[in-house]
Amino acid sequence: MQTQPFEAAIFDLDGVIVDTAKFHYKAWKRLAGELGFAFSESENEQLKGVSRMESLDLLLRAGGITEVTTERREVLASRKNEWYKEYLATLTPADVLPGVYDFLGQLHSRGIKTAIASASKNAPLILEKVNIRPLFDVVVDGNTIVRAKPDPEVFLQAARLLDVAPAACFVFEDAAAGVEGAIRAGMRVAGIGDARLLARAHLTVTSFEQLNPVSLLSYIGVTGFTGWGDCANEQ
Ligand code: BG6
Ligand code: MG
Repeated sequence: MQTQPFEAAIFDLDGVIVDTAKFHYKAWKRLAGELGFAFSESENEQLKGVSRMESLDLLLRAGGITEVTTERREVLASRKNEWYKEYLATLTPADVLPGVYDFLGQLHSRGIKTAIASASKNAPLILEKVNIRPLFDVVVDGNTIVRAKPDPEVFLQAARLLDVAPAACFVFEDAAAGVEGAIRAGMRVAGIGDARLLARAHLTVTSFEQLNPVSLLSYIGVTGFTGWGDCANEQ
């Protein structure tokens, strides 16, 4: 039987650690409204995980708006970001999603390293507002990466900084673009959210409350796992 390593857990931020995905949607919808078109939650799904400027381009395309100058794009993106930051002002540690603290605690007690891998330039602000930065060994975000998800860059950089091989990493993602990026990085990935939208993930759950590190490995059929000694009987 094969023993698989699980040395690091790499988390997306928006919609995985904190429920900020709803604020992104609210701000994009408001911008679409100003521009004169409706923007649905299902259209918004494609924006999840991708960078601010790429999200803007997708939004404009959804509204049939073409031929936008670079200057105008910058103005629209920063308007959206100002609204988004207004919404973020209400964030508190209570906005950390259910099961996250518990799951992180279980990882730490087993010596598994942890990282954030986010496309967001607002990641440092969000982490500070919910006061969760100390629970992660490494943070890689939109301020340091060049290529956005589904490019694997953000995940590979996190693994490099953690000094863990990609194959020993498990990624947690709520966006199809992020799931794809993790797969391209050669990592295993758990989708957090709707299984139909995250079909490429190795497994999908709706909440961290449904996960613990041992069940995670059994979900994906890793047998003969011996890494954590006496925890093998946990659910
Ligand atoms: C991702 C979000 O985490 O960050 C996207 O899923 C967002 O919706 C992207 O567009 C960039 O975020 P920000 O905060 O830099 O605009
Ligand atoms: Mg996300």
